[in-house]
Amino acid sequence: MTTFRALWIEKGDDGAFTRRIVERSVDELPPGDLLIDVRYSSLNYKDALSATGNQGVTRDFPHTPGIDAAGVVVESQSEGFAAGDEVVVIGFDLGMNTPGGFGQRIRVPAGWAVPLPDGLSLEESMILGTAGFTAAECVDKLERVGLPRDAGEVLVTGASGGVGSVAVALLAQLGYPVAAGTGKADQAEYLHRLGAARIVDRETLAAGAGKPLLPEQWAGVVDTVGGEILFNAVKSLRYGSSAACCGLVASPQVPATVLPFILRHVNLLGVDSVELPIGEKRRIWGRLAGEWKLERLRDLARPLALDDLPGAIDTILEGRMVGRGVVDMRD
Ligand SMILES: NC(=O)c1ccc[n+]([C@@H]2O[C@H](COP(=O)([O-])OP(=O)(O)OC[C@H]3O[C@@H](n4cnc5c(N)ncnc54)[C@H](OP(=O)(O)O)[C@@H]3O)[C@@H](O)[C@H]2O)c1
Repeated sequence: MTTFRALWIEKGDDGAFTRRIVERSVDELPPGDLLIDVRYSSLNYKDALSATGNQGVTRDFPHTPGIDAAGVVVESQSEGFAAGDEVVVIGFDLGMNTPGGFGQRIRVPAGWAVPLPDGLSLEESMILGTAGFTAAECVDKLERVGLPRDAGEVLVTGASGGVGSVAVALLAQLGYPVAAGTGKADQAEYLHRLGAARIVDRETLAAGAGKPLLPEQWAGVVDTVGGEILFNAVKSLRYGSSAACCGLVASPQVPATVLPFILRHVNLLGVDSVELPIGEKRRIWGRLAGEWKLERLRDLARPLALDDLPGAIDTILEGRMVGRGVVDMRD
């Protein structure tokens, strides 16, 4: 196949960004070690930022977003991979300034690819995608600083979204009592099905932002939203416990003081999935395919086709996405 279909984002003379599906040629892809036939991709919040011209994500247009891709190697110039290998590529520059997984072909450096781990299908790897991977990174990092199962509730914010849904399901499967923080009262049943013990509404999590400290409540936090909700959660951590911070859908600004850190001995942990070294990426994928394989994985999936993406991008931008948009890229 020398031509393939891809989502195409163009910047008009008026500065507006438009989305359509186009036919492209493999010859137009950048140089790289691996040419990959993309079978599945997934929709992440960052893809919506790319598709709407966020310069922190994508500088040059026209462009094909898609920070996630799972597929089969078609051509390899790397000793580590051969034609026919199943691989997963997430993060690095994929879908940012390199044509991404919303095209049926990508060409990337071999150092960006992870062999599909035993225990996951290509489709399952994209039900997880960057969002699920990041949720697992958060739990992995919290575990490493200490997350006892009997210390109390673990809060997940933005719980019905991609990172949040996987974090709820993973923590619940591991035996933690999970408080799911959400702005979507109508998704309570979904969140309970994933394993949430309790639903906490977004207004409650945002209350008390002006106070220096809040009553100790959480044994751990996975925060996907940032802003006042993140720092309220830090102010509500139990003595000595930790919050993992990975997102900014509410705000990148954090109204912080040092008080929770110096009076409650708590930790704020940063989590990045993009530049995480490839060895670490393999380790986390291995956990997701093995000991952390989610029993509820299929419940998270919101199936999409390439042609659905222009509309689905609005859904995720408006905070209405539930679970994980998994994109079947096959013809
Ligand atoms: N650090 C990394 O490497 C990394 C990797 C992946 C994602 N991220 C970031 O993590 C965040 C979540 O990504 P995602 O793909 O899970 O997005 P998503 O599917 O859109 O989920 C975000 C969720 O946040 C909640 N939300 C939306 N707007 C909000 C607002 N104004 N205030 C408070 N909560 C709001 C909603 O859940 P509820 O209605 O349930 O509250 C929404 O579903 C994004 O900021 C993304 O950029 C970072």
